[in-house]
Amino acid sequence: MKPKTIIEPFKIKSVEPIRFTTREEREVLLKEAGYNPFLLPADDVLIDLLTDSGTSAMSAKQWAGIMEGDESYAGSKSFYRFEAVIKSITNMKFIIPTHQGRAAEKILFTIVGGPGKYFPNNTHFDTTRANVEFSGAEAVDLLNEVGKHPEIRADFKGNMDVEKLEAFIKEKGVENIPLCMITVTNNSGGGQPVSMQNIKDVKAVCNKYGIPLFLDACRFAENAYFIKIREKGYENKTPLEIAQEMFSYADGVTMSAKKDALVNIGGFLAMNDDELAMKCRNLLIVTEGFPTYGGLAGRDLEAVAQGLLEIVDEHYLQYRIRSIEYLGERLVAAGVPIIEPPGGHAIYIDAKRFLPNIPADQYPGQSIVCELYLEGGVRSVEIGSVMFGKYDKNGKLIPAMMELVRMAIPRRVYTQSHIDYLIEVIIEVFKNRDKLKGYKFTYEAPMLRHFTARFKPII
Ligand code: F0G
Repeated sequence: MKPKTIIEPFKIKSVEPIRFTTREEREVLLKEAGYNPFLLPADDVLIDLLTDSGTSAMSAKQWAGIMEGDESYAGSKSFYRFEAVIKSITNMKFIIPTHQGRAAEKILFTIVGGPGKYFPNNTHFDTTRANVEFSGAEAVDLLNEVGKHPEIRADFKGNMDVEKLEAFIKEKGVENIPLCMITVTNNSGGGQPVSMQNIKDVKAVCNKYGIPLFLDACRFAENAYFIKIREKGYENKTPLEIAQEMFSYADGVTMSAKKDALVNIGGFLAMNDDELAMKCRNLLIVTEGFPTYGGLAGRDLEAVAQGLLEIVDEHYLQYRIRSIEYLGERLVAAGVPIIEPPGGHAIYIDAKRFLPNIPADQYPGQSIVCELYLEGGVRSVEIGSVMFGKYDKNGKLIPAMMELVRMAIPRRVYTQSHIDYLIEVIIEVFKNRDKLKGYKFTYEAPMLRHFTARFKPII
């Protein structure tokens, strides 16, 4: 028989209890946290979907690697294994470990960035944008039009607009664009994949103007699997072969290993350019550590190497992509508005359509985030005007382009019944949406306010 049910391709050896609370308890806890789930102790959360970053369950082989870790300061055995595995996937000449993704970004953009420089990307992730801007350069998002519409279903909504890229290069001048980046999958745009054709087309434009192409490869394996199931000509290739082809068009890579390397901490920077690699390593020594450990312990390098071997397993990726799709399908069937089709690591509720009566300046996304916690102990995150809103000269809110609530699914952590429970919670909140209230700030920091903000419901 050909089984219909796609099962978790692992069994569970070690478990971590989760703590149940009552609605009454959660009402007190949420109020104490200023209606900002970032300020909740994790122990008061039942299902934690704040992020898929650093929250993976490691395998028995990864834990064994932790014991195998060689903690030599220089030239540790674990580094050579880390380097060999990353080379086998990316074929990059230089592999530089960092303690997480943003450390790789900080090093790269400190060297190639600076005032007057521009960096195009399909969509910069927040830390990438912050590191580009911190260097004095400008971060520019050139996402394909279809990627900007939550309700339109398309296969590769993470694609870059290639025509816009070429026009942008002509406008700003090749000399002001040190590199071009593609983020796979496109986290800030809903975890949507980028097609191989798009990577090739972007590379062709970059080649024409002599601009290096870098991949932000946090979720490269999820992207490779989408290519396998959606792009003609790739159906018979393995995810590893597809990933290798993706990287073959790149001149460099930044990666947060906290996503598709199935670890709790780690990252790397990889590239082919000798001179750039030398500069990056020199800066790494100042900020992260010696080039054979870069801010990580030998044991962490082992866990990353092993995780990267496991992530390209086809059964794992089939289960991973299908479990997100399953959650999405159930929500759509109940009429809950989400970004369609679901991406690789998260479901994004479209709060504008969920709560059309709550205006942007009363933060509909925050309202849903709070209610998901109150209803079922679920922690999610607002990605809308709380996170990206700005003020005009008169102190009036300039809302974000979209009002979203992200529920990111940690890798190998929750089972299907956790997801079924989550679906019940979301549908219940959706049924009672007329009762939801807007929120206003009672405290906000001048930068990255979503992390520490406090709110009050508008009654
Ligand atoms: N690039 C992308 C596409 C990311 O999603 C992240 C992190 C980073 C870079 C930075 O990596 O956290 O290791 O420094 N995303 C996490 C998230 C935080 O929740 O989406 P990091």
